[in-house]
Amino acid sequence: MSTHQTFSAGEKPLSVLDVLGAKNRRKLAMVTAYDASSARIVDRAGVDMVLVGDSLGMVMLGREDTVSVTLDEMIHHSRAVMRGARRALVVADMPFMTYETGVEAALLNAGRLVRESGVRAVKLEGAFLPQIRALTEAGIPVMGHIGLTPQRAARLGGFKVQGRKAGAAAILLDEATALEEAGCFSIVLEAIPAPLAEAITARVSIPTIGIGAGAACDGQVLVLHDMLGLYDGLAPRFVKRYAELGAQMEQAVRDYAEEVRGGTFPTPAHSFGMDEEERARLEARLREA
Ligand code: KIV
Repeated sequence: MSTHQTFSAGEKPLSVLDVLGAKNRRKLAMVTAYDASSARIVDRAGVDMVLVGDSLGMVMLGREDTVSVTLDEMIHHSRAVMRGARRALVVADMPFMTYETGVEAALLNAGRLVRESGVRAVKLEGAFLPQIRALTEAGIPVMGHIGLTPQRAARLGGFKVQGRKAGAAAILLDEATALEEAGCFSIVLEAIPAPLAEAITARVSIPTIGIGAGAACDGQVLVLHDMLGLYDGLAPRFVKRYAELGAQMEQAVRDYAEEVRGGTFPTPAHSFGMDEEERARLEARLREA
């Protein structure tokens, strides 16, 4: 399909097998993207994986949380990302309530997401083991996501660090093992103590991708708008700001507006001229009118 990822000769896209093979060999870098332009930029920057996260509900669509994001919205943004990404493995989030109700719903909805956008893997939050097994058997690679799962923030009492107590930590360790057994090719660990993430990373043979889970994970993921300073909502402590693009954008637009008002933009360099002869003809016509 023309909307899907395109590859130049000699360019080899990363596969799920490449991600699995990175375990204990090299760290994996993953970042979110939600449109073709930013996907092109992060892909050129050399990330291994691009996540079309349902965080798009907050950072792109201005909503309060991720639960209202629909499958159609995920497909729309995933298609755009697939037009921009060349080499990275693109993974898309399954939105809230598109997989929880059962295996059939999970298969139908993940099938639509993969078929209509061209993404090569999906991510789903929580230990929905029958769904993960069914998707994997159907040929759809699944990335797990445990710890702070934003789709379930209401039940978790908000956006809070998970697994701080030994009992809760043991549950997360068991969940990680179960996700691997169910067929996940990697697991996002969000907002859990670093020693727990280290223990999970040592226990499972699939790569762990941390976000607020310390340095021992096999890879890291960040929300692009958080790391670039493009989102002015509350940034969690685990976010590192690598740039302040929001402030730069604001200043650039301020400068533009000032130049428009002051008449210093556009200059002849940004305008189109006209042959002297044609101009003379135009002026003659204007005089006749
Ligand atoms: O939606 C998202 O961006 C995510 C990351 C925070 C892992 O799930």
